[in-house]
Amino acid sequence: MCGIVGYVGPQQAAPILVEGLARLEHRGYDSAGLAVAGSKGSLRVAKAAGRVRPLADALPKRFSGHTGLGHTRWATHGPPTDANAHPHTDAEQRVAVVHNGILDNAHDVRRRLVAEGVELASDTDTEVLAHLVARSTAPTLQEKVVEALAQVTGTWGLAVVHADHPGEIVVARHGSPLILGVGDGEMYVASDLAAIVRHTTSVVVLDDGELASVSAGGFTTTTGKVASEVDVDPAAYDAGEHDSFMHKEMLEQPETTARMLQGRLDERFGTTHLGGLHLDPRELRGVRRVKVLGCGSAYYVGQMGAGLVEELARIPADAEPASEFRYRNPIIEPDTLYVAVSQSGETIDTLLAVQEIRRKGGRVIGLVNVVGSAIAREVDGGIYLHAGPEVAVASTKALSHMFLGFALLSLQLGRVRDLSVADGRRLVQALERLPEQVAEVLALEPQLVEVAKELAVADSLFFIGRVRGFPVAREGAQKFKEITYRHAEAYQTSELKHGPLALISPDVPTVAIVPDDELVGRNVAALHEVAARGGPLVVVTHEGVDLGDLDVTRVDVPRSEVELDPLLLTVPLQLLAYHAATHLGLDVDKPRNLAKSVTVE
Ligand code: AGP
Repeated sequence: MCGIVGYVGPQQAAPILVEGLARLEHRGYDSAGLAVAGSKGSLRVAKAAGRVRPLADALPKRFSGHTGLGHTRWATHGPPTDANAHPHTDAEQRVAVVHNGILDNAHDVRRRLVAEGVELASDTDTEVLAHLVARSTAPTLQEKVVEALAQVTGTWGLAVVHADHPGEIVVARHGSPLILGVGDGEMYVASDLAAIVRHTTSVVVLDDGELASVSAGGFTTTTGKVASEVDVDPAAYDAGEHDSFMHKEMLEQPETTARMLQGRLDERFGTTHLGGLHLDPRELRGVRRVKVLGCGSAYYVGQMGAGLVEELARIPADAEPASEFRYRNPIIEPDTLYVAVSQSGETIDTLLAVQEIRRKGGRVIGLVNVVGSAIAREVDGGIYLHAGPEVAVASTKALSHMFLGFALLSLQLGRVRDLSVADGRRLVQALERLPEQVAEVLALEPQLVEVAKELAVADSLFFIGRVRGFPVAREGAQKFKEITYRHAEAYQTSELKHGPLALISPDVPTVAIVPDDELVGRNVAALHEVAARGGPLVVVTHEGVDLGDLDVTRVDVPRSEVELDPLLLTVPLQLLAYHAATHLGLDVDKPRNLAKSVTVE
């Protein structure tokens, strides 16, 4: 949440910072700002509520300087106003600070500073850091920052410039990611590789508790780190010919899912190769329960995953929002396998749940997309999702990869138990077909555009499904509400008649998930109950499913094995949400109030 970029070197800092901010905007986009150190030992600051582009267009002509910081914000303390935008400065504007994270004792520090005669210019927690650094009498900027940080508690990814220490940026990490990028006679600072990957792929990932001093000539960290090369394609961070990252990321799925499965399927023995789990067959056999933890959409896919574990391995499994789990003094069982699932690997609730499990001696593995992220580094082992960078706030391809991660894990857990080699092979072959089948679902886009237009006019919708279909419905509703701002509620089809049926009317459409499985008859019966109340129906189903004389809009997706069907049932719901949002003229990549990576509690 929130994005940081910094530059020090021979080039003008402002254009580099603006470009970096534009590439970080998905991390927070309610306000943005820049601070640049001019040649005469002064700092210039420009900041405003709103997006990066208007800020850049309004920059004064003489906004020059070779050292600078930029920030794009997702508001925590104080509303998105010009004054609350980062960078924050001291009264004399000698120090500028950008900060991701939350200072827990900001209120107390603000009170103390006011009592000492400091005039605060914003409602933010961050501002106190600028004053604390400015008031420090320590000789070096790094020592000033250490002194300031000793007076606060909370989390930070922090970057500081000081007019009296030209050509230097000091950064510190504690709970919020920060990297350094090493250029040729120039250095970059960023909260995310996306901001700097076009300039350099030589990076240093800071650890929690680490500080670094950065100048054009290089850097020093408190732990003596050296830079290493990251293997990334900078083009993966561009939307290319697509109107949005979300569209690009949905359409990439056939290719990325095929890549993820490569080398992981073992058709001969009907199982999977997952070296990163660090669990041998004996240990896998010892697992008595599986508990999945994730947030938002990752939690919904976690529910699909728990279902897969129960079906394929016959081990009791469930999923819980990590944001709830960590607050209820969870009982950690030695023979439970905990699975943390996260695209970003930075979601604070999931990370803190992982830490709590480990503190209590539990074994936790990760299904994580971002290599080297905090969760990936914290877990005992795991499966990297290899979806490539996901920029759109609404997660799509990473969720499909999470589902596949669970399929790979469940298959292996099943094969060390009672899943036969024949069943294992059946599933391996189905997995091999999935990427092509995802492409078939994506080819339904023209039909889904029309369905989406019909749904977009409704103020309120239901998404229903049961058993395997219920988490699909939950994720469908989540995606829809996230980017269309329509009220979309997911319900178990079986529960409709216990209450929500009262809301069904010709103005409230229902999107029903009706796979061709053992529940198809019951599902179709429930559709009749909705239709009898005049509720319009969109049915995501399989060819050949007999819907009788129901007047519905039907979307037929290809069949997989029933256990793997949820993936192919979810993809059309991504397209529905996307096209409903674009039909409404909304910014799909940056939905209001949200941000990619929720790194605050
Ligand atoms: C998905 O569309 C959402 N933006 C959100 O629910 C997301 O899945 C959740 O915040 C978890 O993120 P993570 O996968 O990075 O942990």
